[in-house]
Amino acid sequence: MKLFIDTANVDEIRIANDMGVICGVTTNPSLIAKEGRVFEEVVREITHIVDGPISAEVISLDSEGMIREAVELSKIHKNIVVKVPMTDEGLKAVKVLSNEGIKTNVTLVFSAGQALLAAKAGAAYVSPFVGRLDDINNDGIKLIEEITNIFMNYDIDTEIIAASIRHPMHVTEAAKYGCHIATVPFKVLMQLTKHPLTDKGIEQFLKDWENSVNNR
Ligand code: E4P
Repeated sequence: MKLFIDTANVDEIRIANDMGVICGVTTNPSLIAKEGRVFEEVVREITHIVDGPISAEVISLDSEGMIREAVELSKIHKNIVVKVPMTDEGLKAVKVLSNEGIKTNVTLVFSAGQALLAAKAGAAYVSPFVGRLDDINNDGIKLIEEITNIFMNYDIDTEIIAASIRHPMHVTEAAKYGCHIATVPFKVLMQLTKHPLTDKGIEQFLKDWENSVNNR
């Protein structure tokens, strides 16, 4: 499974990229707003850090507006993937954009049926939101299982991005079901690196080493 980072913070993106574990970035309007910077500027800077798909989201609600925004965004860099909301207008935009060779990531997917429609329209990626489903007492990982099964049944080449990830288990569970990608917030990425036995092991190795040096 590939890992993307789910942030618009360039410092976090640099650290994750230097660790060699991520190969793409996803942003959304809320994440960009948190940075208090000009949208295009942030997106351009991200393309200079990570050499992989960078999702940037449109804010129009009508297909014409989405297509206009998508064309402008795709001029920023060849790695830009245009994030489009899962609506009927969004699907219309996805169809046009995929015919024009502009990759799309259909976002705010909460059912297997929505994921299937997005794939049919020509989306390169679909983003089912795991955490937001868990928040309303639905099983987000179950949705990942359903979509991976359906896409496998029909050899659908749209890649599934497990999004709205809240903790490390979301990542490993999505991986167990063969999800192609998980887009992970920086905090969760750091949580994934940690294990108390690793820290304990390092402490013990150093203690034993110092004791042996002092006894020589
Ligand atoms: C990424 O594609 C999504 O926009 C993001 O994962 C949503 O996460 P949230 O539900 O934590 O806002």
